[in-house]
Amino acid sequence: MRLDYLTIFPDYLTPLSLSLPGKAIDSGLLEVHVHDVRGWTHDRHRTVDDTPYGGGAGMVMKPEPFGEAFDELGVDRGTAIVFTTPSGEPFTQALATELASRERIVFACGRYEGIDQRVLDHARTVADVREISIGDYVLNGGEVAALAITEAVVRLLPGFMGNAASLAEESHSGEGSGLLEYPVYTKPATWRGHDVPPVLLSGDHARIAAWRHEQRLQRTAERRPDLLHVSSAAIDWDVVPAT
Ligand code: ADE
Repeated sequence: MRLDYLTIFPDYLTPLSLSLPGKAIDSGLLEVHVHDVRGWTHDRHRTVDDTPYGGGAGMVMKPEPFGEAFDELGVDRGTAIVFTTPSGEPFTQALATELASRERIVFACGRYEGIDQRVLDHARTVADVREISIGDYVLNGGEVAALAITEAVVRLLPGFMGNAASLAEESHSGEGSGLLEYPVYTKPATWRGHDVPPVLLSGDHARIAAWRHEQRLQRTAERRPDLLHVSSAAIDWDVVPAT
């Protein structure tokens, strides 16, 4: 997989050479290129922003540098261009899985009040565009969002995670998808007066599985009740008795 990042703060993306993406780069699974959008400006001040048409607060990122960047990077229909923005679709594990199947992703990291809309309109004519938000809060720019998306995607690449089973069991994925993960414990069995739940020391795998499932349901009900609400479309109406 090849990842490109368009940003006016390339240093913000240095964590890419550490941790998970760094390992994937070393193993040859991943190719990463970070680009300074100012490299595609042509004026003395390397201007990347201007005032918004129609008025209003803040500055808007100019279209030309992004257009030249897409031309030079040679994006095509097989490329996903991800615009990180608080106005995007919510980032989910399902979206991470979808992006993990791409050969190439270009992240366009917006700053200020956003990127001129025509950049997105143009990008849609040459590539597959996704506008993605990592949550209902506003960051100063899209770089941290691009890092978060990258980490969630890269760890799904085949051959990357040492232990594929740990992918299957975790929150938001695999069996029991939609439930949060159960609490985990390791040695010692007693620590500062807190005991490991005895069932986990019982060796009874069926009871342990039942306890873990119960914990997942309880946690999800407490912390994310929204995940337990099934849409009416998901209900098998055949099993509902007629009234
Ligand atoms: N840029 C600023 N805030 C953001 C958010 N919540 N998600 C993605 N990109 C952003």
